[in-house]
Order: sequence, then C-alpha cells, then structure tokens
Amino acid sequence: MKIFLDTSSVEVIRSHLSTGLIDGVTTNPSLMLKEGKDPLEVIRRISDLFPDDASVSAEVTAETAHEMVELSRPYTSLGSNVTVKVPCTREGLEACYILSENEFKVNVTLVFSQAQAILAAKAGATFVSPFVGRVDDNSFGGLCLVKDIANVYAKHNVSTQVLAASIRNVREVGRAFEYGANICTLPPAIFDKMYNHILTDDGLRRFNEDWANLMG
Ligand code: E4P
Repeated sequence: MKIFLDTSSVEVIRSHLSTGLIDGVTTNPSLMLKEGKDPLEVIRRISDLFPDDASVSAEVTAETAHEMVELSRPYTSLGSNVTVKVPCTREGLEACYILSENEFKVNVTLVFSQAQAILAAKAGATFVSPFVGRVDDNSFGGLCLVKDIANVYAKHNVSTQVLAASIRNVREVGRAFEYGANICTLPPAIFDKMYNHILTDDGLRRFNEDWANLMG
C-alpha cells in the first residue's frame, strides 16, 4: 500500500518526508498552474527528494504521441524516479507504448473505464490512474472502477499498478486499497486527516490527565 502526494508544492512535499510514509508524488498541469513555477524545475526539485525507486509523475500535454515523447525527454533525463504521465487517449497510449519500450515509467492518467485500463496495461503502463472523485461527480462509482480494474489485472497477472487518483476524502483511501489499488495519491490535506480520530484525541487527553495526576 503506497501513498503518493498529489501536489506540485516542493515545500509541502518536503514537510511530509520526515513521516517516512510518502512513497512518491503525482503532479498535473492544474497543480503546476497553482504553483506558477517552471514545471521542469519543480520536477527536478521533487525528484531530488526521493530515492531512485520512487515515482514522481510529470504530465506531458501535446497533440501527438511523438510530441509527447519529445516533451518527456527533459523530464526523464532528471532521474530514474521520474514517471511520464500521459492521457488515456489513442495518442497518449501510443506514447506510453514507445516510452515503456524504452524502459521509461509511464502513468496513464484520466482513466474512467475498465476498457481504458485494459488498453493502458497492454500499452505497457507502469501505473494506471482511475479518477475516483471525478467518476463520482458524474453519477457512477469511482471506487467500483478501482475494483473492476484491480480485479481484471489480478485475473490476468497484469503488472501495471492501480493508482487511485482524484481522492476526495479519507474513507475513500481505505476503500480504494481494500478494492485492490496499489497506490493512492492524495492531496496533502487529505493525507494529514488520515492521522485523526476523535477517540484517539479523547483517549490521549484522558491518559495525559491521569498521568499528570499520578505524578502529582
Ligand atoms: C492525479 O494524478 C490526478 O491528476 C489528480 O488526483 C486529479 O484530482 P482532481 O480530480 O481532484 O483534480
């Protein structure tokens, strides 16, 4: 069960590293826009924070597969933990095929159906990203999609990892892993909430009070 942070903020990622609980990062053009910095420099700084076997997704946006492959070069030259993120379109999957044949890690994003996930796996994707929250926004089940993809991959011994994305709350994290996701990528605010439970706070308060009373 791996946890990635879904953010382009180097400072936020750095502040979470001491937990030892973060296995990688996903970024996308919207998250990059929020930071307003040079994407290549942002990915370089994030990549430097992680070991070689981690994953830092950098999304490429272009019309054709070959343009996507070209755009990925500056990113893949930064380090072996950099994963190229491509959309689940015909062109994106062609880029995925070319990149994976050349031993680069690829995250196929914007996945909304089991059929798309099957194609992504056949194109050699390292990760496939079903968008749980955006599926739910459109009145069908995001977590069911995770389950359907994980089930078909398990039945056919597919090595592509299921990376549950667009997660909107803590409960979905548990469910996504239960349904077979290998990784959840989480906005930092949702990751931070995973620690919390009202009974932990209440129990700790009482233990602290009792300890203080015992010690006089
Ligand atoms: C991660 O890879 C995705 O880009 C991200 O989780 C999308 O989340 P959103 O639907 O909240 O924008």
